Amino acid sequence: MKETMTAAFLPGDSTVEMRTVPVPAPGHGEVLLRVKASTICGSDIRCIYHEHLGKGPEGYQGVIAGHEPCGQIVAEGPGCRRFKTGDRVIVYHISGCGVCNDCRRGYMISCTSQKYRRAYGWQRDGGMAEYMIAEEKDLIALPDELTYADGAQVACGFGTVYEGLEKIGINGNHAVLITGLGPVGLATGALCRKLGAIKIIGIDVVPERMKIAMDLGLCDAVLASGPDNVEEVKKLTGGFGVERAVDCSANNLARATAVRATRKWGKIVFLGEGGTVELNPSPDLIHDQKTLYGSWVTSTWLMEELVERLVRWNLHPADIITHRFPLERAADAYALMSSGKCGKVAVCQDEELS
Ligand SMILES: NC(=O)c1ccc[n+]([C@@H]2O[C@H](COP(=O)([O-])OP(=O)(O)OC[C@H]3O[C@@H](n4cnc5c(N)ncnc54)[C@H](O)[C@@H]3O)[C@@H](O)[C@H]2O)c1
Ligand SMILES: [Zn+2]
Ligand SMILES: [Zn+2]
Repeated sequence: MKETMTAAFLPGDSTVEMRTVPVPAPGHGEVLLRVKASTICGSDIRCIYHEHLGKGPEGYQGVIAGHEPCGQIVAEGPGCRRFKTGDRVIVYHISGCGVCNDCRRGYMISCTSQKYRRAYGWQRDGGMAEYMIAEEKDLIALPDELTYADGAQVACGFGTVYEGLEKIGINGNHAVLITGLGPVGLATGALCRKLGAIKIIGIDVVPERMKIAMDLGLCDAVLASGPDNVEEVKKLTGGFGVERAVDCSANNLARATAVRATRKWGKIVFLGEGGTVELNPSPDLIHDQKTLYGSWVTSTWLMEELVERLVRWNLHPADIITHRFPLERAADAYALMSSGKCGKVAVCQDEELS
């Protein structure tokens, strides 16, 4: 085993700093992973890359970046109970205390322990490195049928979307509106297809993203964001509006569109984070008997269920990755993701790069 490795840090001025650091040794209940794929999330750009905006669970503490890692175990510390060297694993990206109510439900994302809740790539070292340490309890087994790049997508984006779609329920009766066609919006299209949605409409402001959504067959129609979106969506749905809407944009106007373009008795989920929204509760929600959900990441058990479903559906989340970079070009990867002119962007090693 090498003694040092390359790792990427985000100083917060839209640059990436590559440093040489020691290869860490796994402690009790921990494993050392060879990182094979580590993808970039909109949250990394919004809260860390440009400037360190986040507080609390979104506070970046100068650690190795990357909260969407997937890799292979190359060493295990004492006390591991299930996973061993050679296993292929996804890292659920928040390590919780394990004993608070949220952790016991599998939602380590909302662990209430100030001392022990630490997200990979935010408050503890993440996946933008040759190797990383993960706690065994944070690992999800990656089935043989899925690639490491598929797994990295599950660690945050697809997991988050699956949870949100479970909350609103998607089936073949549903037309779905997706506001924001970044990687999270594209994942929503991919999962809605498999869950049977009959019509999928996407909205974005970036032409490249609208094109990717159509080229990959993830939307049946895409609209450029604008003041007539609600009417346009109604026109595409027999005058009614969609049964389900998912906001993946975090934009205030797009969020309002998601709510207003949803028909009576419909359900909406907000996934996009940050920003604000202005709604008129009586006409927008109450009188039309609509339900609005917020949804934050997912649980470890639902993530396990998702990987099982992905195999059954033959759905490969890596299909929405448009660009792969070697670790030494991490700076180019973040810059591209920040431009928005891409699908998902991945930093890869070994077989995931060739
Ligand atoms: N809820 C959660 O647990 C969770 C988990 C992961 C990511 N997120 C959030 O989900 C959001 C999407 O993530 P991503 O990685 O796809 O980020 P992203 O920034 O790449 O995607 C956002 C997309 O919204 C589009 N957009 C901006 N303004 C718009 C408008 N007015 N109308 C329509 N589209 C508009 C952008 O062009 C972009 O394509 C981010 O806010 C991210 O922080 C939430
Ligand atoms: Zn993320
Ligand atoms: Zn906890």
